Amino acid sequence: MQPFHDLAAQVRSIRDELDGALERVLASGRYILGSEGERFEEELAAWLGIPHVVGVASGMAALELGLRALGIGPGDEVIVPALTAVPTAMAVVAVGATPRLADVDLATFTLDPASLEREITPAAKAVVPVHLYGQCADLAAIGSLAAQHGLALIEDAAQAHGAADGGRRAGTIGRLGCFSFYPTKNLGALGDAGAVATRDDALAERLRALRNYGNRGGFRFAEPGLNERLDEVQAAVLRVKLGHLDGWNERRRAHAARYREQLAGTSLALPAERAGAHHVYHQFVVRSPSRDALRERLARDGVDTAVHYPQALHEVEGLAARVRYRERPRRAEEAARSVLSLPIYPELPREHLERTITALKAVS
Ligand SMILES: Cc1ncc(COP(=O)(O)O)c(C=O)c1O
Repeated sequence: MQPFHDLAAQVRSIRDELDGALERVLASGRYILGSEGERFEEELAAWLGIPHVVGVASGMAALELGLRALGIGPGDEVIVPALTAVPTAMAVVAVGATPRLADVDLATFTLDPASLEREITPAAKAVVPVHLYGQCADLAAIGSLAAQHGLALIEDAAQAHGAADGGRRAGTIGRLGCFSFYPTKNLGALGDAGAVATRDDALAERLRALRNYGNRGGFRFAEPGLNERLDEVQAAVLRVKLGHLDGWNERRRAHAARYREQLAGTSLALPAERAGAHHVYHQFVVRSPSRDALRERLARDGVDTAVHYPQALHEVEGLAARVRYRERPRRAEEAARSVLSLPIYPELPREHLERTITALKAVS
């Protein structure tokens, strides 16, 4: 079976650089909150064009710490899209707040500003647009609604390293931008890792404290915090990989262009690129009314695919009783029944791409 991912292929392509980085960490004697972490934060901040990046233990930790740093907790609502990875909402639940679901746009799979507007309640304190599959949500419209209603804008940029909206990089537009470096992401570590980006000096300070038991230096613990630090091994790996990220994103875009050109005449609905948005194709997601049959048929032809995600958030067992909405998010439900993610990663061999296209053309 042709795999959906091949993370080892990326490691092989930069093995010497990774060996050098790991050797540096091994020899340093400092494995948590050391110079690799500091340098990675500086380098990612420079790449994003933002003053502060705070490295943390995962993408979910980035969201949870971000919500805490903004003082969001019990009694508050946070509006999230109904189609996203569960951690977007799990982080809201983790701080004791309630996720309120807004529906998504079916062409771009991102938060629909009109639905967001309908879900704004007096309890709503923040909105978390998710740049799903590598394309920014409509931040101009969402940002203006957030400003009008006093909502904090927290970008979930876990899938969108290098994406941009109107020339501004994903994760730099809201009050906070949250990144995951889970190994499959466009910028992926060799384990769990994440980061929060912000322009706000005080928020950055608070995030640094919150990730480290609330520590403000020495033995001063000004408020309760967590242990959600980024370790030195992951930081060193991420520093190496950051140097390759723009090139890798270009390769993802080239694969997407080939899919787009070759699948145009089929019955599949292809993902839309919003005007002014720079898509980095964390996933290439098509829609088909007979998705499950199509997926089985592709598997028989030796092509592995994936579904992101098979349920809208209100259909997820562990969230159903905890989320609220005024209007049932039917477009997210529709997406969950029809989306299919095709293999797309920088090292994807050309013959695998062509085989996937041939198999799809034969059945759709
Ligand atoms: C959209 C989105 N948000 C948040 C996360 C959470 O990231 P992590 O797995 O690093 O906790 C992920 C990744 O799993 C994600 O895809």
